[in-house]
Amino acid sequence: MTDTANLKALFPKKDDIPAEFSMPLMEQDEYLINGELRKWNGERKDVFSPVRIKDGDNLIQPRLGSVPNMTEKEALEALDAAVAAYDHGRGQWPTMAVADRIKHVQKFVEQMISHRDEIVNLLMWEICKNLDDALKEFDRTVDYIKDTIEALKDLDRTSSRFKIEQGIIAQIRRAPLGVVLSMGPFNYPLNETFTTLIPALIMGNTVVFKTPKLGCLLFWPLLKAFRDSFPPGVINTVYGSGRTIITPIVSSGKIDVLAFIGSSKASDSIRKNHPKPHRMRCVLGLDAKNPAIILPDADIERAAKECALGALSFNGQRCTALKMLWVHSSIVDDFIPKFIAEVEKMQMGMPWTDGVRITPVAEASKPAHLAELIDDAVSHGAKVINPSGGVSCESLVCPTVVYPVNDKMRIYTEEQFGPVVPVAVYDEIEEAINYVVMSDYGQQVSLFGKDPKEMASLIDPMVNQVCRVNLNSQCQRGPDVFPFTGRKDSAEGTLSVSDALRVFTIRTLVAAKDTEDNKQMITTILKDDLSSFLTTDFIF
Ligand code: G3H
Repeated sequence: MTDTANLKALFPKKDDIPAEFSMPLMEQDEYLINGELRKWNGERKDVFSPVRIKDGDNLIQPRLGSVPNMTEKEALEALDAAVAAYDHGRGQWPTMAVADRIKHVQKFVEQMISHRDEIVNLLMWEICKNLDDALKEFDRTVDYIKDTIEALKDLDRTSSRFKIEQGIIAQIRRAPLGVVLSMGPFNYPLNETFTTLIPALIMGNTVVFKTPKLGCLLFWPLLKAFRDSFPPGVINTVYGSGRTIITPIVSSGKIDVLAFIGSSKASDSIRKNHPKPHRMRCVLGLDAKNPAIILPDADIERAAKECALGALSFNGQRCTALKMLWVHSSIVDDFIPKFIAEVEKMQMGMPWTDGVRITPVAEASKPAHLAELIDDAVSHGAKVINPSGGVSCESLVCPTVVYPVNDKMRIYTEEQFGPVVPVAVYDEIEEAINYVVMSDYGQQVSLFGKDPKEMASLIDPMVNQVCRVNLNSQCQRGPDVFPFTGRKDSAEGTLSVSDALRVFTIRTLVAAKDTEDNKQMITTILKDDLSSFLTTDFIF
């Protein structure tokens, strides 16, 4: 059982912070445009940590530094640099041979690896990801980049072949789309940003990249690596408020792809600024409210463990988190104590402390938002059923289980994105199925049960509602070679290591009638290595 005083005690005094995880202080005074790290002398935006530092009896929110707060002028300069580097598909980057583009990305990833410790520390301080998860985020991102390189080699090898159909010879490849606006989320600032940024780049697009609202200082060490690894204008960074910098960029009509991971509301308001929205392809990872459905014959211990992890890893701040548990009435009295035991076991504390699972929530407004959702549920008949539920101290919010949840409560449909777990009970499976059918979201579901017939009878309707059905395990994105997408308000486009190469490109072919003259000409182009597109080169 935890109370506010216990939570307060978890915040460190300055001297308690281990030397290897010391608090950063970074006044970022540069940004990357057109291959130059330009000096920023304008207004800045302060960056604060979700951590609090004890100073006597007070808790102080530490300032980690600042980033440029750009205006429309610099945003449009960044856009112009990306447009010029693409040069209507005639620039050095979009016309470069695939093998050469790969070398640039390899150079980048080597430099990125040298910043591992610094970036992991910033992930802990800026968004309070625990050390294990921060390390995982970094390493997973490096693996993702390396896997992307291999996937592109594979794709290129397959596309190196010519096809002859109905008297037409053709070579079909994937060509870039143009200028990409890339915006990642605060909960996976490095990983999810790079799962779109890197495929977009490697396929020959040029990029304007806006850092997430939280987790932005951690990109500073990478600006030099970007500058030194790519030709000028291929990647450009912007910092500041979306309304000030993103609206003019999109309104210009010069963005060909919006790669955005965040809320559906924000993505709708960004895309509507494009003067010809049909011209802007959207690759979107959006809202989700993934349910777990626990059937009467489920292994209750296992379901309780998996649901606690699925709902509360990184404080529930994952789009794939389990955000609603549906438990059959015949087992609910057995499930709940086991689930509560798992929840109460989760160690709370600072991100660098060994074994910590629950850390300060990243968004300043989150504790108040969660308290509102809990109060609303209680006012409609739910109870907070775990001993530490509902307790908070500034940014530390105890995991809270609310039960029984019904459709009158906001938390029944609203995405909480934090450590509150609603539990609903059902008698007929139709009630749980109906919840998924009526939901605005369609990312994933977890089914817990043993009977193959029962499970199969749920798998079939569920695969047409969501895009991943997890059997006896929590929802998750990985492994990254698997497709990651969603229906309804949850996503647009599919991401995986190989799918991402597809979403940032369009199939383009060179075709000719199968005549002697044409064959001769194509042979000369290939033999003399005259084209980067029309080539049978094999990348090893
Ligand atoms: O926030 C959404 C992430 O894509 C979730 O990824 O399931 O690996 O935590 P994850």
